[in-house]
Amino acid sequence: MEFKEKLAAFVARIDSAIDKITPAKNARPARIHEAMRYSLSAGGKRIRPALVLASSELFESGVDALPAAVAVECLHTYTLIHDDLPAMDDSKLRRGVDTCHIRFDEATAILAGDALQTLAFELLATRYARDPKLAVELISTLSNTAGSQKLIGGQMEDILGESRSLSESELEFIHLNKTSALIEASLRMGAAIGGANGNQRQLISEYGRCIGLGFQIMDDILDATSDSQTMGKTVGADTAANKTTYVSVHGLQESRNRLAALTERACEICDSLAASFLKQLAGYLNDRTH
Ligand code: IPE
Ligand code: IPE
Ligand code: MG
Ligand code: MG
Ligand code: MG
Repeated sequence: MEFKEKLAAFVARIDSAIDKITPAKNARPARIHEAMRYSLSAGGKRIRPALVLASSELFESGVDALPAAVAVECLHTYTLIHDDLPAMDDSKLRRGVDTCHIRFDEATAILAGDALQTLAFELLATRYARDPKLAVELISTLSNTAGSQKLIGGQMEDILGESRSLSESELEFIHLNKTSALIEASLRMGAAIGGANGNQRQLISEYGRCIGLGFQIMDDILDATSDSQTMGKTVGADTAANKTTYVSVHGLQESRNRLAALTERACEICDSLAASFLKQLAGYLNDRTH
């Protein structure tokens, strides 16, 4: 199957599983479930859950990675809902539609984010209960990644950084934690489900750090160069909020060069893992326009 078809097939499986797994729109209280479904189904690129599936398929355990993929997308969607709140980035557009707090209200958006986060862990605990060791590993990986020393830590320093300019290493900390950590964790979770050995897991993690850091560099590039309609989210927000970004520190050309170098390393790793889909995905992310 061609790369684009394979990605579309992953996205179709993910979308259908999200629909089945999320509580029904009219389940009581309807408003919270409507808000969760609204943000989940608004149409993200589904890169992280696709990474869970692709990474698990490199190996041969036969264990279904789809519930873990949905868990990761629930967690990611929660971070976007909270990231867009007025107290955070104050964004009004996400995934081509009004942000959750604009479509509903702030309290509902906060609660929808909270509920999506706990749903992620419920899914891992219940859907992998037959293999308790695997379930614990998945829960530990995702909780550690989403916690105060990684994703939330990155978000905290990102917000603290609005009031002063940051050093290169402070910016790298933010990028590695607010964005790259969840991308790496998605791959590690897939590798754990697939039954990868220690060496394979290390390579998968390094690939994740390369494309994860590259993903946020590209996000900064697109925030500076694209438009809200193409991106489906509020753009120009970083400059407006006075944020230090990869582009503000290194300029556009150097940002593109770093991204290309990270992509090249990611592709080398894929060669040693015979991971052709992940290799093509790295190239696709290097050239993405939204
Ligand atoms: C946006 O992530 C937030 C960042 C970490 C840059 P995506 O660009 O993957 O957003 P969706 O899921 O496609 O909406
Ligand atoms: C968001 O970073 C990272 C998380 C949500 C954890 P950004 O604030 O740069 O993401 P966008 O640009 O709003 O999607
Ligand atoms: Mg932000
Ligand atoms: Mg934001
Ligand atoms: Mg951004």
